[in-house]
Amino acid sequence: MAGRFVTFEGIDGAGKSSHIESLAQWLRGRGHEVLVTREPGGTPLAERLRELVLGEPMDTLTELLLVFAARRDHLERQILPALARGATVLCDRFTDATFAYQGAGRGLGADRIAALEQWVQDERQPDLTLWFDLPAAVAAARRTAAREPDRFELEDEAFFARVREGYAARAKEHAARFVRIEAEGAAADVWQQVVAAVAAKGWW
Ligand code: TYD
Repeated sequence: MAGRFVTFEGIDGAGKSSHIESLAQWLRGRGHEVLVTREPGGTPLAERLRELVLGEPMDTLTELLLVFAARRDHLERQILPALARGATVLCDRFTDATFAYQGAGRGLGADRIAALEQWVQDERQPDLTLWFDLPAAVAAARRTAAREPDRFELEDEAFFARVREGYAARAKEHAARFVRIEAEGAAADVWQQVVAAVAAKGWW
């Protein structure tokens, strides 16, 4: 497996999206093939599941199963083929988000998620995870009222504080691949940290 799998995590409002695009340009400028994708989503089927997960009321276990169904399709049809041909995959959220949102946020706990993770991914994990971390209150202030909030964005600050704790626990458990990005500051400072984290790997 020649390519590298990089994931981007953080609570809603952490501001990761623009940095994903910038990093894609940065890597392409160095001559690398880059696939930018997201979860839930990334394939026609998974994008349809995303619409349901973000829009349709459902119980938490159903939500968990749909997220992993989308992930399976995405892995099989996009991520693994891209890695096999040597591309760098930049994925906006992956399984750490499930531990954080469904596990810590919704209170499902880690055991069922770990079982599904094993089932759907075997031992496969991202090579690098950039975790955009900031306090829940700061992220809430950043989320714009400009667009219709989805089912997650409607949650209160306590929910996002739990999600943040979920990410922190995951970062501790998977310290070798996690890099914490201090996301509270100006975009230029955040970008410097992103480039430093990527350059430190020496992969590109
Ligand atoms: P997000 O990635 O923030 O996209 P946008 O910038 O368009 O809002 O939205 C995806 C939402 O899905 C986000 O609120 C987190 C949630 N989510 C989960 O709850 N579990 C998961 O496993 C994943 C991948 C996402």
